[in-house]
Amino acid sequence: MAEAGEKETHEQFEKRFSTLVIHGFVSLSTSLGIQSGLFDALIKLKDEERTVKEIADTAGLKERYVKEWLGVMVSADIVDINPETEKYSLPPHRIPFFLSGSSVSNLAVTLTELPMYGAVYNKLLDCLKKDGPLGLPYSEYTDFHTVMSNHSSIWVLQHLVQDFIPSMPQIEERMKSGIRILDLGCGRGLASLVFAENYPNSTVVGLDFSEEAINYGKERAKEKGLTNVEFVCEDAACIPDDWNNTIDYIYTFDVIHDLAHADNVLLALNRILKPDGVFSMIDIDCKTKHSENSSNDYCSMLYSMSLFHCLPISLFFEGSVGLGTCWGREKATEFLKDAGFRVDSITKPLGSSQAHYMCSKKVK
Ligand SMILES: C[S@@+](CC[C@H](N)C(=O)[O-])C[C@H]1O[C@@H](n2cnc3c(N)ncnc32)[C@H](O)[C@@H]1O
Repeated sequence: MAEAGEKETHEQFEKRFSTLVIHGFVSLSTSLGIQSGLFDALIKLKDEERTVKEIADTAGLKERYVKEWLGVMVSADIVDINPETEKYSLPPHRIPFFLSGSSVSNLAVTLTELPMYGAVYNKLLDCLKKDGPLGLPYSEYTDFHTVMSNHSSIWVLQHLVQDFIPSMPQIEERMKSGIRILDLGCGRGLASLVFAENYPNSTVVGLDFSEEAINYGKERAKEKGLTNVEFVCEDAACIPDDWNNTIDYIYTFDVIHDLAHADNVLLALNRILKPDGVFSMIDIDCKTKHSENSSNDYCSMLYSMSLFHCLPISLFFEGSVGLGTCWGREKATEFLKDAGFRVDSITKPLGSSQAHYMCSKKVK
């Protein structure tokens, strides 16, 4: 890699490009190992050395395929091999990254989004064409809500009420006493359920336009016997007038940049928030200008997610603002202000790579 300010050579780019290509293939195989249960099998077998057959039998998979997968993992230095015995093991320091629910398992969860994007590849190619479709409906992304709730569950279960809400003592006190909370774009409703369980004096509304996700939330609420949470299947752009000035706390996690009509939805959120209410918009953190995100590996992943998902699902709707995942702090702040919010702070909450825009209603 060229040093900052130096001109990159042909050879340097060749090396970098070949690494990128190789990592792309290895990533896909790693995702296969996560979703087929091969990492679970290796974890179950502890860090002891095992044969291909033992690993395949533990995972309940065909030995020949497992052997090929182990070939990828060994050459990529993810699984170790003993050259004397040709037996395999997953060393202890790598286990937490593949252990479901561990605090560092979010990377593996993110990786399993890759096949979902691959599944829409050909349809996305058509969208790019000048005379192609505007975008793609959510229904093209099989299992989106499972992937998404896996993704947000670490944040919700380990941070939401443990440190995020307590970081806003004024809102935490009110939640304890009993207020009305809206989790907009709630997906399967994990956060709504956690709010309802932890703040029993408050009432929570989880709103999403996915019937499948809303039904999931309703089922979980029923199982848990929660009576202070309601799940509403509705388009965020159609929030009724009788909600005006009724919500004390609005929470959105990874939602606003996906909304086709984010400008109108933000206006609606401003309309329904009580004058002394708080709006926590948690959204992807990056800069708005491409030039300010250059040479940033993390942003290159975010833009890819946007290209394959957030942008096409937003552009699918006529008149979409098409924000994309990486709308960035500058544009986000502009949208919030235009909708009548005052952005009181922008912080990075513990346990999330996203930005928290803590907003209040501008006094008119
Ligand atoms: C990236 S997901 C985040 C889900 C959830 N907040 C979480 O953290 O798991 C975005 C959610 O916004 C919902 N959504 C997108 N556009 C919407 C709209 N116009 N009205 C209501 N929900 C919408 C999607 O169905 C999806 O569940």
